[in-house]
Amino acid sequence: MRIILVGPPGSGKGTQAKRLQQHEGVPQISTGDILRAAVKAQTPLGLEAKKYMDAGNLVPDDVVIGLVDQRLAEGKQKGEKGFILDGFPRTVPQAEALDAILDKLELSLDAVVELQVPADEVVRRLSGRRTCNNCGAMYHIEFNAPKKEGVCDSCGSDQLIQRDDDKEETVRNRLRVYAEQTAPLLEYYSRAGVLKSVDGTGGIDDIYQSILSAVEK
Ligand code: AP5
Repeated sequence: MRIILVGPPGSGKGTQAKRLQQHEGVPQISTGDILRAAVKAQTPLGLEAKKYMDAGNLVPDDVVIGLVDQRLAEGKQKGEKGFILDGFPRTVPQAEALDAILDKLELSLDAVVELQVPADEVVRRLSGRRTCNNCGAMYHIEFNAPKKEGVCDSCGSDQLIQRDDDKEETVRNRLRVYAEQTAPLLEYYSRAGVLKSVDGTGGIDDIYQSILSAVEK
């Protein structure tokens, strides 16, 4: 399976990509997670990326394209079972660069799945999101709570934190950035004949099944 998940912040890309990874054995490649790991480790890349991320703006194209180029080449070398790109591409130049990377690796895309979620639902989801600072597992205090409050189901850590960019004002800017810079990708992939749109509201399991059906069609 070689797919891209696209959708506004909080549309469930990470939640569904992790599920696909777990059940289908296809690796999730999240540029957001890669960048957050670099911020946490305070690498030069992380220090550079942090100022864009904290404001809810996009990190420059050449930075993220380089990361994905390297990660996809490693995956091919290791014989990985495809990929789920989560949060990349996010601009038309990134999509064009991805086309060139896939050509170079002699790979093609199966589908680009758009998760459609209205803005008010996104704000509700992001304000309640909690992420495990140790293993990255994701929760929502209301919709997807851990079994024991404040404790990660996966690794037992008690560090379930709120992301810095989930403050309401930053979320609103991320939504603006999505509309201006990422939404044009829908037209780009529709023209390429690979776009599948899925209703991203409702239960996590139902959305997962809709994604699988959309990819198989
Ligand atoms: P990134 O980490 O990619 O953030 P994002 O795209 O804004 O998406 P999110 O991670 O916020 O949401 P999601 O769609 O994954 O939803 P989730 O599953 O978590 O990027 C962060 C930043 O990094 C960017 O702003 C940018 O600065 C930089 N960056 C990253 N990639 C870049 C790129 N390619 N180019 C340039 N810059 C880049 O779900 C959200 C919440 O909702 C969770 O609490 C979850 O439990 C809950 N939830 C999920 N599904 C449901 C459901 N069906 N019902 C109820 N609740 C649900």
